[in-house]
Amino acid sequence: MAVIAAFAGSAIGLGNIWRFPYLVGENGGAAFILLYIGFTLFLSLPIFLAESAIGRSQQVNCRAAVSFLVPGRAGKWFGFLLVLTPLWVVSYYSVVGGWSLDYLIRAVSLDFVRSTPEQLSGSFERFISHPWVPVLFHLGFLGATAAVVAFGVKSGIEKFCKWSIPTLFILIVLIAVYSLTLPGAGKGVEYLLKPDFSKVTAHTFIDALGQSFFSLSLGSGIVITYSSYVKKSENLMVAGVGTALSDLSFALLAGFSIIPAVFSAGIEPGAGPTLIFDTLPFIFSNLAQHAPILSALASILFFVAIFIAALTSSISLLEVGIAYLTEDKGFRRGWACVLLFVLCGAFGTLCSLSFGPLSQARLMGLSLFDFADSAASNVFMVLGSLISVILAGWVIPRSELFRELTNGGTQHANARLFPAVRFLIRYVAPLGILALILSSLI
Ligand code: PHE
Repeated sequence: MAVIAAFAGSAIGLGNIWRFPYLVGENGGAAFILLYIGFTLFLSLPIFLAESAIGRSQQVNCRAAVSFLVPGRAGKWFGFLLVLTPLWVVSYYSVVGGWSLDYLIRAVSLDFVRSTPEQLSGSFERFISHPWVPVLFHLGFLGATAAVVAFGVKSGIEKFCKWSIPTLFILIVLIAVYSLTLPGAGKGVEYLLKPDFSKVTAHTFIDALGQSFFSLSLGSGIVITYSSYVKKSENLMVAGVGTALSDLSFALLAGFSIIPAVFSAGIEPGAGPTLIFDTLPFIFSNLAQHAPILSALASILFFVAIFIAALTSSISLLEVGIAYLTEDKGFRRGWACVLLFVLCGAFGTLCSLSFGPLSQARLMGLSLFDFADSAASNVFMVLGSLISVILAGWVIPRSELFRELTNGGTQHANARLFPAVRFLIRYVAPLGILALILSSLI
């Protein structure tokens, strides 16, 4: 359970609650969800197992693990990609973390309870387009992440995770139930359950795959790094399945909380990254009209839990870079945190400003924030995952992969599944990823 909790702490975060619902909205609903579930079970789970076997067999940070398996320059660059990706992600992740911090403060000051849905509409737009307030929140969130990583209060984080993740689960179930009773919610449910395959394009596939990787924290050195700390007696297959199922069910619950409310509020489902921040105040201020105390309590607990879920993910993101700087480059932990805070803070500031003063800036037709996000999940994480499955499927000897995934053959159920898992790692995952890369290029 402790191993699953640590992986789930990294996996469950803003990816489930913020990113998943808005991608569902942008990609036409049920068909996207089906693709996402399929990718998670048949591609992402094997990749998770591949990465965890690499981490536990090598027992070093991800850059060192990759250079050990692939000697020479190529190995160095591959390893570097795995270190760079989480730093790139944490830069814009903490922009959204900053938004959730702002919402937490608003929930505590009873803003959602005191205002009507009409008064709240447009308030998020005004907040993120402000020239410096959201930047301050972004730096505040990143600073909190760096501070936790610098002090290394690992046991504190584990204690936080232990109650915050179950709390978040209970709250999201309650919110889903409430959201389903809102007038007009039925249209949202239909949207989530009735696939419209005519809307599916190559882009839907790549978005679903990218989301699956993002949500399970794949292709970013994190699973490799965390697994290097896992004891040899732990069952990696059980940890992988447990993490994937809890991550998947959490995303689906978030979808069923947000999308029906989106339809009830008359918000545009394809609104993009701002979707949940427009929808949640609507849910809470609606609830406040019949049950103000319940709404106040639920909104505060909800945003505290989101904030902590986001923080446990951003900590895992920053930790990969810190491990590299301290182990390989001889940095002190505190200075490594300061350096990464400055670099990621600067890059994230540009992403944050793309909702305000820099809204006209475009890279490959996307705003800076959207560019950062799709480069990470649709390119860097996809490449990182491809490297991982090739290493686990073709470079590490079969006997070593078998030993890691079956605990030396002592787990009989794992040993029976092993040939199928290895087939997925060796052929299905790399070919599936390559096919998607090619189709998206075309
Ligand atoms: N999986 C995390 C989430 O869903 C984000 C993340 C991405 C964490 C990549 C680590 C690596 O919020």
